[in-house]
Amino acid sequence: MVILDGKKVSNDIKNEIAAEVKKMKAKGEKVPHLAAIIVGNDGASLTYVASKVKACERVGFESTMIRMSNTTSEIELLDKIDELNNNPDIDGFIIQLPLPKQIDTQKVLMAVDPDKDVDGFHPMNFGKMALDMSTFIPATPFGILELLDRYNVETKGKHTVVIGRSHIVGRPMSILMGRKGFPGNSTVTVTHSHTKNITQITSQADIIISALGVPNFLKAEMVKDDAVIIDVGITRVADENSPKGYVITGDVDFENVSKKASFITPVPGGVGPMTIAMLLKNTLLARELRH
Ligand code: GUN
Repeated sequence: MVILDGKKVSNDIKNEIAAEVKKMKAKGEKVPHLAAIIVGNDGASLTYVASKVKACERVGFESTMIRMSNTTSEIELLDKIDELNNNPDIDGFIIQLPLPKQIDTQKVLMAVDPDKDVDGFHPMNFGKMALDMSTFIPATPFGILELLDRYNVETKGKHTVVIGRSHIVGRPMSILMGRKGFPGNSTVTVTHSHTKNITQITSQADIIISALGVPNFLKAEMVKDDAVIIDVGITRVADENSPKGYVITGDVDFENVSKKASFITPVPGGVGPMTIAMLLKNTLLARELRH
């Protein structure tokens, strides 16, 4: 069994990006600049955005974090987006999700300039991705592809089962795994909350990508021998013994599933760190598109 070490691979990627930034600086060029809008006070979202800002510093990017109150109106947010779209200093930006209830997420995501949409959430970029055109691929699916690539995990002709159909992970992942090329060329089944007898489906999978958000959902008896297991779950589970009062728990019962798997991602230290590395990669791409 091989652990797909997202922490190590993401560090490698950050070092590669930092080297690119160093070259830009040596040539007197402007370094990439990422902005992040966060609306409200959700603890997990604040932590994620803080990690994104820290990662920018680490590779030498400029970063701007924009905090807006929980009562922000849709118009106020759209105005802020307009400002970032028109600010020539910003190469790319993200709006951390989820947004408060008074705001229509789809409307907001459609307002982002597709050339600055480093999350790859704009319908134009999502469509390009589905049509195999060059574009920003959403960071989490992009990170999973990169992990599979760097560990040379065979995907061609394999049966990939994706658990979850979210716009951010499950849906794009299912498209990407079935695309031509590597990693891709696999036969994809998408499962979700209305899927019947999910064990019958997962137990036929060569590759399982679980993005459900239910701690320890995937048990050993749901998985065949030598399956490749990608765990996208990052649920906070209360734990009095942990200094933070919670532990980050994946969708996969790691202890038991890892005994059957050929490759498996840990939580934490698997997919999570890859997401941030690929956001940086998309920002570098946005900067290249603009200059
Ligand atoms: N919320 C959960 N994942 C993500 C992500 O990748 N990007 C943004 N903007 N919000 C998220």
